[in-house]
Amino acid sequence: MENISPTTIVIFGVTGDLSQRKLFPSLYELHTKGFLPSKYQIVGFSRRSLSTEEFRNFIKETLIAKKMPATESDLSDFLNHLSYREGSFDNADSYKNLSETLVKIDEGLGQCSNKLFYLAVPPDLYEGILGHLSYSGLTIPCGGDMGWTRVLIEKPFGRDVETAHKLDHHLSDLFEEEQIFRIDHYLAKETLQNILTFRFSNALFEHLWSGEHIESVSVKLFETLDILGRGTFYDSTGALRDVGQNHILQMLALVAMERPKNLTPESVRRERARVFEKLVPMNAKHIEDHATRAQYEGYRNEPNVNPESQTETYFKLKAFINNERWRDVPFFLESGKALHEMRTEIVVTFKPCTTCLCPNGDGHEHRNKITFTIQPNEGISIEYFMKKPGFDSAVEPKDLSYIYRESAEEKALPDAYEKVLYDCIRGDQTLFPSTNEVDLTWKYVSPVIKHWESLPLLSYKKGSSGPETSF
Ligand code: BG6
Repeated sequence: MENISPTTIVIFGVTGDLSQRKLFPSLYELHTKGFLPSKYQIVGFSRRSLSTEEFRNFIKETLIAKKMPATESDLSDFLNHLSYREGSFDNADSYKNLSETLVKIDEGLGQCSNKLFYLAVPPDLYEGILGHLSYSGLTIPCGGDMGWTRVLIEKPFGRDVETAHKLDHHLSDLFEEEQIFRIDHYLAKETLQNILTFRFSNALFEHLWSGEHIESVSVKLFETLDILGRGTFYDSTGALRDVGQNHILQMLALVAMERPKNLTPESVRRERARVFEKLVPMNAKHIEDHATRAQYEGYRNEPNVNPESQTETYFKLKAFINNERWRDVPFFLESGKALHEMRTEIVVTFKPCTTCLCPNGDGHEHRNKITFTIQPNEGISIEYFMKKPGFDSAVEPKDLSYIYRESAEEKALPDAYEKVLYDCIRGDQTLFPSTNEVDLTWKYVSPVIKHWESLPLLSYKKGSSGPETSF
């Protein structure tokens, strides 16, 4: 990234799980690919008492444990960009110390650097950290084109409409919307980024992309993993808040949205938001008929989970969009933990041919499908039907597929967090939900969460395909 002025990335909660699993491996990848600004520094800020040397060793071990392909010189060059500041998130003096560190970095650079504040901490700490950052003057950009400040925050952005508004007011008191980067890392997954290109660059599909030809759309996020010891967070969150309000609805938006005027962040985010605006609100009757929630057996024995917990680890909803393109087309939104397979995909199922030239006796309805596989084996496939070769005229399904990892140059797909960090540094907000999107998605899921109790909480075995649902 040659044309980006010097940048300092400050990571709060730098010794936590997210930093180790995602942020440092991604920063390191960006470093080796030359995708960070030519002059950059990373400052870790956390409660743990560490010297910069110890912090560098900690990150070195993290990267080695992740088997990051590294040459000694790449690794030591990267580690030289790192420094550490011990501090307590709620102590004003800690921010003074941080500020001194940042001033020193700028003096060393001979100019005021851009500042990117990454809050890799539990959401209940956001308000305090943001307040201190502002009070200590750290959020003030240096001015002009140089020295922007930006803040990156992780979901959940609130837990309902009211708390999301509160967080939003707090953020907007301190930052302009252009400075706020709300992360939904699903938007940065490769196949999801491809949906708009696929839809709007191929004359083949777009004119069929509506309820006239499409029967249903299914959006699934299945995980084999359980809650991985995150009992405290998960038990007060549940599947619908954890992945429904954000990842699943964003996937729906990409298949359902209208063509944006262009690829600017404003146009793309506006069109995603328009889909959310048109989601048919779920009233009590609709929830009874079109929503299911369930919990895996043994969930209540997980550490830090209430032994009588009613929290769902699985949900399925039948959603509708009230616009000309999608009226009456069901969108099945489904996600669960501890299921039999890890699979995230969007399947678009077309209506059967009314005049299928099918051989006598073939009573099947032939439905074409387009599948966007987000993980594990990223790709796009189209299922179609053809005559089985040979003397008979039987019909058989086939598919045309593009599997990213089968193509040599795509073997090493960038991790979503690489793209998140890269875009934030470039200032491109396309793949980050706007405040409007966050608001509208909470408006859609909040009534469902409120009515959960009126629905039975079903149970399913770990490693199974989830509960039986009636729709
Ligand atoms: C996170 C959720 O946002 O997404 C987790 O909090 C979930 O519960 C995760 O496991 C799934 O992300 P990925 O990238 O591993 O599919």
